[in-house]
This record gives sequence, structure tokens and C-alpha cells, in this order.
Amino acid sequence: CGIVAYVGNKEAYPLIIKGLKRLEYRGYDSSGVALMNENGLAIYKKKGKVAALEAELSTKDTQATIGMGHTRWATHGEPNDTNAHPHFSNDRRLAIIHNGIIENYSAIKQKLQQKGHTFRSETDSEVLIHFIEDIRTETGKPLEEVVRLALQEVVGAYAIVIMSDEHPGQLIAARKGSPLVIGIGQDEFFFASDATPIIEYTKDVVYLDDFEIAVVKNNELQILNLDNVQQVPYIQTLEMELETIEKGGYDHFMLKEIFEQPRSIADSMRGRLRADDAHLQLGGLRNYLDKLADSKRIVIVGCGTSWHAGLVAEYLFEELARINVEVEYASEFRYRNPVIKEKDIVIAISQSGETADTLAAIELAKSKGALIFGVCNVVGSSIARATDAGAYTHAGPEIGVASTKAFTAQVTVLTLMAIEAAQRKGTISEELYRQLLIELETIPAKVERVLQTAEKIKEIAFIFTYARNFIYLGRGLNFPVALEGALKLKEISYIHAEGYPAAEMKHGPIALIDEDMPVVFLATKDSSYEKIVSNIQEVKARKGRVIAIITEGDTLIPTMVDFVIEIPKTHEMLTPLVSVIPLQLLSYYIAVMRGRNVDQPRNLAKSVTVE
Ligand code: G6P
Repeated sequence: CGIVAYVGNKEAYPLIIKGLKRLEYRGYDSSGVALMNENGLAIYKKKGKVAALEAELSTKDTQATIGMGHTRWATHGEPNDTNAHPHFSNDRRLAIIHNGIIENYSAIKQKLQQKGHTFRSETDSEVLIHFIEDIRTETGKPLEEVVRLALQEVVGAYAIVIMSDEHPGQLIAARKGSPLVIGIGQDEFFFASDATPIIEYTKDVVYLDDFEIAVVKNNELQILNLDNVQQVPYIQTLEMELETIEKGGYDHFMLKEIFEQPRSIADSMRGRLRADDAHLQLGGLRNYLDKLADSKRIVIVGCGTSWHAGLVAEYLFEELARINVEVEYASEFRYRNPVIKEKDIVIAISQSGETADTLAAIELAKSKGALIFGVCNVVGSSIARATDAGAYTHAGPEIGVASTKAFTAQVTVLTLMAIEAAQRKGTISEELYRQLLIELETIPAKVERVLQTAEKIKEIAFIFTYARNFIYLGRGLNFPVALEGALKLKEISYIHAEGYPAAEMKHGPIALIDEDMPVVFLATKDSSYEKIVSNIQEVKARKGRVIAIITEGDTLIPTMVDFVIEIPKTHEMLTPLVSVIPLQLLSYYIAVMRGRNVDQPRNLAKSVTVE
């Protein structure tokens, strides 16, 4: 979900709507705003996209210099107008927007109902604002104090902003487990779930920490913690530029982000890698690299695309550094009783750095004494802060819900880590070390070459626009790429797709193959080339329609399959960075041709801060 709030001397409404649109990528089944002017505190909400809310409000009085808005991704209660945020208190004098989950809401709700509160929605968030109102009635204390007392009772995760009709210049916000950033402008303040709605107006920001409450009143910001101790706000300067969060001439953010990859991969290596003098440096891990090389086992945790990057890393660490690796879905890991031993290292991978399951997995691993590294894209995010050390991926803000440039940046950074561990451990020769570094430097240009084949990929996409299923097959390092290709297609085109290790096909999925089944093969010239050629023959013998991703210059596979997409040759260890690119483009074009909302696919959220 997304939060934006404003207090200052500008018109709040246009600024909030614009901010909500920027945040729509985080989740968007409904949205709403609360605005306050001399006529009081008003709330407007609408199911659907922010544009629907905007249309609804076009005839309303939206004049206000204080207000807040929310885009919702349903957790409690179906997406509809009433369940959308903001929510009023019982007396309609307080309003709240909330990201996260209040776990003990039903007990609180029951008590309040006995006291005569009526609830208009099914949400846990409405319960929280009624609870705050109730404490205020009982104690008569100032609102910030009342909010603090209420939050002490709350179990769960939240980022909230509260407005009161009694205090026209006041906003109160708090966070636990769900991000909240405060922008400080000239006589104005912004609250938002991430910096994207703020960047246009100010670069001075404060990231609120867990268990902190921020109060803006009388044009001043104060931060206190849940124990009522004043905190000194740590003001940071945003380095992000406005154009990095705009589409820059592309039809969709996803396409822009796919095309940014030569740069984002280079950015993730910049300052870390110099092939000419065989130099590799990972600043954030500097004091930990020996521990990494010395580790007995690495456990990688992540979700979605980040989990796929973890699978690529598994091959790399095992092959190069000879370290045993396990890759776990964070959501499974956190609810098992995982075995963590001394000299085990946990690597958490997350684009947003806010994924609740991954964060919980880190906390669990920490409690078992593991050393934890982070590979995150968002600087200062919760996961980046919860880890002992880490290496950022410098992909820049990723707005498209389906992850593309974040994936290749993750794989780049993990590759650097694996090479460095191998070098320190002495499991690779000096020659291979140099060769990998030299080859890594050529990757951005190779990715660029694949991007130049976009038109051809578009033509293939056109032919398969109405397919109902897809199978993606690959071996070795191309197996996780197959999974990622299938995930991309599912996410944005809603076509059912499965990724499989190519050799595993004969144990089940082969039964699905007939003339209606498109099969995407990752068939690059590497150590399993001959084997993948036989797998292609198995599919062709059953009349499957094959699209093969092949190495430039391969003359055999084009004689066997229906379509080929060529990619430049690279070192086998680095293949995923290049072979994933055509799959991203293929799913993009199919989704566009099917008329899907590529950047904001149904039911998905960019960062899932709930379980
Ligand atoms: C969500 C997104 C996915 C993403 C996953 C993990 O499900 O829709 O695209 O891969 O979360 O996100 P993270 O930010 O932790 O990488």
C-alpha cells in the first residue's frame, strides 16, 4: 500500500494525487484522501485506480493545505469504497491511513463495540483509529500522547498517519515494520511510504525508525519513541533524481527498466570492479569477506524474483567458491525451525528491502546467531538496516511491479561476491579470476546487443499472444532463468507458465506437450548444450512449438525449432545476466498485446510488507 500526506502552504490535494499515482505501483485496489479546510475534515474514497478517485473528486471542493492519501492493497476486507482508506473515528473527528496489519484488532474491536462504537468497514485500520479516539475520550490527553498509548497496546505492523479536525496544522505519523519517510521542505512537511512522491519538492528527508512517532505541528517536526523519549531527527539528502522515477519516453516503466539494464548492471559494478588490474572491492562487506570465504554453508533467503537471483547465486557460490548453499523462500524459512550452525552465513536478497517475510527470516536467523548479509536495492530500507553488512545493488528505483533491472543487478552483485569469496578461498585460479572480471565488464554491452533485437522478439510475442500456457526450460544456471521467465509472463500477462529444469521435463511436464504448447528453451552454448539439444528434440517429436534462446552463430538449433532469439556468447557463469533479457521482453510484449496493465498487474504489489 502507499501513503502520502502533506502539511504546508501549498494546495495539498494535487500534490497528494500526484504522489498516490507515483505510489500506485506498491498496491492499488482502491484509494482515498482526507482533506481539511474551514468546512472541516472530509474523506473521499474509491474502489479501483487513483484515476477513479480523481474523477470522483473533480466536482468536489478539494481546497486544503493539509491532507493525506492512501492506495490500498487489500488485507482485511475486500477492495471496495468503504474498506478503502482513510478511515474516520467513531465521532468522525479523527482520520487515519494505515499500511500493515494490526494482529490483535478483533479483541480491541469487540471491546469498542461493547462501548457503543459502530464500524463502517471490515478493516483493522478503522479499529485502530477508534481505539485512539477511545483513549482520548478516557484520558483527555493530547493526541500525540494518546497515539503513543494506543500503539503500546497494538500487536502487528504499521505505518500510519493521523489527522484531527481540532488541529488544522498537525499531522501525526508512526511506524513499526512498514516504511515511512518524512520530507522537510520550506515551511512544509511530507510523509510517504517511499521517497518517490517527495523528491519533486525536497531532497531533505528523515526515515522514521520502528517504534517512533513523528509529530508535525506549528511548522515543526518532533520525533519521539514509544517510551516518550525525544529523538534527534537524522536528516539525509536524497540522491535520487526526478527523471529516474518518470517514464522518460517509454510506454511503461517496465520497458524503461528493461532498457536501463546496461546502465544498471554497470552501476552495480562501478567502483567495485576494475578488470585491467584485476581489482574487486565490495566496500560494505570489506570486513566480512574472509568470513564469507571461510563459511561452511550459505543460506540465501528471499521471495519472488529475489529468490530466483538466490538460485543463480547457489550455482555460483558452489561452482566457484565450493561453499554449500541452500536457497530458501523466506516465508517457509521463517516458520520452520531452521538449522543454523556456527560459520553459517545468511544472505537476504530484496529489491525493496521491505518484504515482511524476508525481514522476519532475518530476525529468526539473527536470533539463532547467524551472520547476515543483505543484497538490497533501496538504500536505508528495513532489510538493509537489519543486516550485519551488505552490498547494495545500484539499479536505481524500480517502479514496474514485475522486477527486471533489480534482478540483473542482484545477480551482478552476487556474482561479485562469489568471485571474491572464491579468490580468497583459493578455489579458482588467478587466470579464471581475471577472465571472469574481464568478461563481467563486457556484460552491459552484451545486454545492449540483446535489447537491439527487441523488434524481433516483439514479432514472436505477437504470434504467441493468445497462448494459454507456456513452459520454460533450462539447465544449470539457465534453470533459475527459466523460472524467472515463467514468473515474468505469469505476473504481467496472466498466462499460466511453468519453469522447469529441462531434464526434469520427462518426469511429468512432457505430458502437457502438444501442438498448442509453446516451450521456451534456454539453449545457449555451454556445458549442457548437447543435452539441451536432445531435450528440444523430445519436445519437437511431440509437436511442441519451440522458441529457443541460443548463442549467436549457432547453426544447429535454428534447423530444429520454430523461432530463435540470439544472444551474445559470454562465460557460462555469467549467462543469466544476458539470457534473462529476451524473456523479459517476450513477456512484456505479450502482456502489452493482450492489453494488460503491465506496470500494475492485478493482485500484485511491488513490495509486500504484510505476511
Ligand atoms: C513482490 C513483488 C515481486 C518481488 C517480491 C520480492 O511479490 O511483486 O516482484 O520479487 O515481492 O520483493 P523484494 O523487494 O523483497 O525483492
